[in-house]
Amino acid sequence: MGGAPGAWMGIALSVAKPAAMTSSSAPATGGTVVDRGLEGVVVGATELSNVEGALGRLTYRGYDIADLAANATFEEVCYLLLFGQLPNAYQLADLGVRVAANRALPEPILEWLEATPKGAWPMDVLRTTISALAMFAPHREHDGAHPSNPRSAIHLIAKTPTIVAAWDRIRRGLHPIAPLPSLSVAANFLYMRTGKMPIPEAERALDAYLVLLADHSYNASTFAARVTASTRADIFAGATSAVAALEGDLHGGAPGNVMKMILEIGEPARADGYVRALVARGERIMGMGHREYKVRDPRASHLQEMARTLGAAFDPRWYAIARALEDAANAVLHEAKPGRPIHANVEFYTAPMLYSLGIPPDEFTCLFACARMAGWTAHILEQLGNNRLIRPQSSYAGPPATPWLPIGKRGSAGTTGLGE
Ligand code: COA
Repeated sequence: MGGAPGAWMGIALSVAKPAAMTSSSAPATGGTVVDRGLEGVVVGATELSNVEGALGRLTYRGYDIADLAANATFEEVCYLLLFGQLPNAYQLADLGVRVAANRALPEPILEWLEATPKGAWPMDVLRTTISALAMFAPHREHDGAHPSNPRSAIHLIAKTPTIVAAWDRIRRGLHPIAPLPSLSVAANFLYMRTGKMPIPEAERALDAYLVLLADHSYNASTFAARVTASTRADIFAGATSAVAALEGDLHGGAPGNVMKMILEIGEPARADGYVRALVARGERIMGMGHREYKVRDPRASHLQEMARTLGAAFDPRWYAIARALEDAANAVLHEAKPGRPIHANVEFYTAPMLYSLGIPPDEFTCLFACARMAGWTAHILEQLGNNRLIRPQSSYAGPPATPWLPIGKRGSAGTTGLGE
């Protein structure tokens, strides 16, 4: 495995900002205290992708995402991530056949989805179903572990869009549509939602979206996947951890809220007042800011262009409001947070782009998961290929050593702490 500068799991930590600590909170074993949120801490190496935050550059195994978004299909990127090189025509065709063959969901899963309350949140359904897939996959007799290899990765990559599309229809009171083996991942997803062949612009836009979101080094969900895999849990367990960590709005849960803002704003002229009121209330502007990028997220410009093109084909309002919202957010954050580099991130133009494809905002994070399943599974396999348990320390901040207090001596005042 190639090395990122000076680091492998648990061996070397580069510390950007040592947090303030007292002698009582220092780890008993004398470990290094790092920034809350692990900012600037290198916890491992990867050959999969490289985020160069100051430059605004993202590469997958050395290939710039600008080139990949313009030229590669999602299937080619899956191969690149899983196997370390771009596929030739034979390898790509073989991968396509395997993905198509793995798309269908087990019948009991479909029956269970049909019985799920229609109001269930799509990410709850996706997370639970990804976990449930393990029960239908082969496992070792002695410990229940499932094979973690490129085949099981393809199994998960292929089935994730089918879960999202099936739930999309079932919650609308419609029957799921069986996947079509002849279609690409992007076209098949759009087909499974509507039963209609997507127009080429829609397929191309969704395909490029999947390419752009396929991997992003040690982001929170990928790190969660690697932590789980580091215990020698299998690929299903790692993927389930990753989907769970993606959900929050500081990570993959933002784009639905971006669309909510766009819909509430309603017309470009209202963007500035809306943003000022939001920041005055102390709220964050979703789709803005990034831990790693100190300039505009390199994926944002590609998604912006797709949102503009799809807007021109379907409904230009959403792109127009998003543009006004970004300008307003830049201006207001420049005043409210001087010196902080807060720019549009990947989620910002994802919102008008996916909305233009007819996808409802509460499913946006599920689409993110469809793309990132490629990166998650590749990271899990990379972790397992050179594994060491990820187990950091904590500094203890609770009370000092205290003698045991029998229940009769604890008084009778106080509440249960649980409310009514
Ligand atoms: N709107 C308003 N203020 C923001 C902001 C946003 N979108 N993003 C960061 N800030 C501010 C914080 O309020 C904080 O200000 P303070 O120091 O005055 O308290 C400062 O910037 C640092 O915030 P912090 O959360 O420590 O930075 P981070 O590096 O962890 O931030 C994000 C990264 C993504 C969590 C953050 O930018 C954010 O919450 N963005 C909105 C949600 C989003 O778009 N998520 C998707 C990410 S891809």
